[in-house]
Amino acid sequence: MQAITIHQQILEVLETQKDKFLNELFELLRFPSISADTNYRDKVLATAEWLKNHAIHLGFENVQLLETEGFPVLYGEKIIHPNFPTIIVYGHYDVQPADPLELWESPPFEPTIRDGKIYARGATDDKGQFFMHLKAFELLQKTTGLPCNVKLMIEGEEEVGSPNLGPCLKKYAHLFKGDVILVSDTSIIANDIPSITTGLRGLSYLEVEVTGPNRDLHSGTYGGAVLNPIQALCQMITKLKDDNGVIQIPHFYDDVIIYSDEERALMAKQPFDLQEYKNSLEIDEVFGEVGYTTIERTSIRPCLDVNGIWGGYIGEGAKTVLPSKAYAKISMRLVPNQDPEKITQLFTDYFLSIAQKGVKVKVKPHHGGKPVLTSLDSNAYKAASNAMEITFGKKPIPTKGGGSIPIVALFNEILNTPTVLMGFGLDTDALHSPNEHYGIFNFFKGIETIALFHHELKNIYG
Ligand code: BES
Ligand code: MN
Ligand code: MN
Repeated sequence: MQAITIHQQILEVLETQKDKFLNELFELLRFPSISADTNYRDKVLATAEWLKNHAIHLGFENVQLLETEGFPVLYGEKIIHPNFPTIIVYGHYDVQPADPLELWESPPFEPTIRDGKIYARGATDDKGQFFMHLKAFELLQKTTGLPCNVKLMIEGEEEVGSPNLGPCLKKYAHLFKGDVILVSDTSIIANDIPSITTGLRGLSYLEVEVTGPNRDLHSGTYGGAVLNPIQALCQMITKLKDDNGVIQIPHFYDDVIIYSDEERALMAKQPFDLQEYKNSLEIDEVFGEVGYTTIERTSIRPCLDVNGIWGGYIGEGAKTVLPSKAYAKISMRLVPNQDPEKITQLFTDYFLSIAQKGVKVKVKPHHGGKPVLTSLDSNAYKAASNAMEITFGKKPIPTKGGGSIPIVALFNEILNTPTVLMGFGLDTDALHSPNEHYGIFNFFKGIETIALFHHELKNIYG
């Protein structure tokens, strides 16, 4: 009789655990762990506590919540042999705010299944994704045993730019020694088109404040004679990009890596349906930097967006006012080798230079992060590729993601450890939006693939 494969063993036992795994994920999703909102501080801490207990329950050792100046980082380890490869699992237990609440079809922190998808804030970003690693760990222990050492690094401040994780990595560098940092916080192209993310964009995020007169004025008695800061701000914003979508900040593109025609031709082969993309967004045309495809515009090219703009009277009815102040939040997504600090400076210089007389302008940087490229030649990438090939039946395509995970650049710099971005979400999962969801298929496929990743990595290291 032929021995059953590791894959079959894992699938068989996974089948018996599915309800339990889902129920546990639901428990985790019920915590409103919103890191950006100080009203939720206790809830974020309670989430960390729950995870700590869960990790202990699963058999992790030396489990602790590493204190930082912000929310703690969950650490845990299972060392089965000092010479075996060590996988460090990174994820984040914090989530984005859930508003606007009225657009949710079911409450954001009451996970609900509809059409084979789990609806909840954090379902795909990132609770549903990092939890797969805990369940793969559990599954391996119930089947083949662990082939590799495992360590946990689950933080609670990713959605606010991970301001305290860098210092924490430095302080606890002795704990975070390993061979790969495995992250599930990105997407695949489609459920039948597996992919591995090999690049993430960086970020520079700022707030601008434009001040006109020293107080709100009567728009009749002063209107026509004083520069309106909202008008001034809008005119400045229109000078940030031209009609071709090209960013006008001098030297903005200086450090952008230029891809060869061959590389671009390869990217163009990536499955992508522009009509479907437009339909799903209900737009009649896409817009972006001329000369680049939609995939390129969201991966190898930088971009600039106004995230919010406000000022003046926005209450009910009409108030005839010439406001004193106007504000906007502006983000730039960066690509290798742009440096967020340099870009923030270039933006600031340019923005101040285009201000009209009659207003004062302040630029306040928020957070930022460096862009990253991950290697396709590492043992860990090969293990991820092999694992996906087994579980999806197709070799995964390397892709570059448009989002940012600022801490990944520091994994290289501080820990000198390669990262593999093996996520299982879909770009259409509505992350950061109302009705965020994660496919049940994706959740279980992820657990299955991660379990195999452990075995593939062990095989490669021998
Ligand atoms: N998981 C996302 C990043 C992401 C999403 C990467 C989809 C690739 C595909 C992450 O949680 C996130 O939202 N990051 C923020 C960074 C910020 C808050 C500093 C982002 O990209 O806006
Ligand atoms: Mn995330
Ligand atoms: Mn996010």
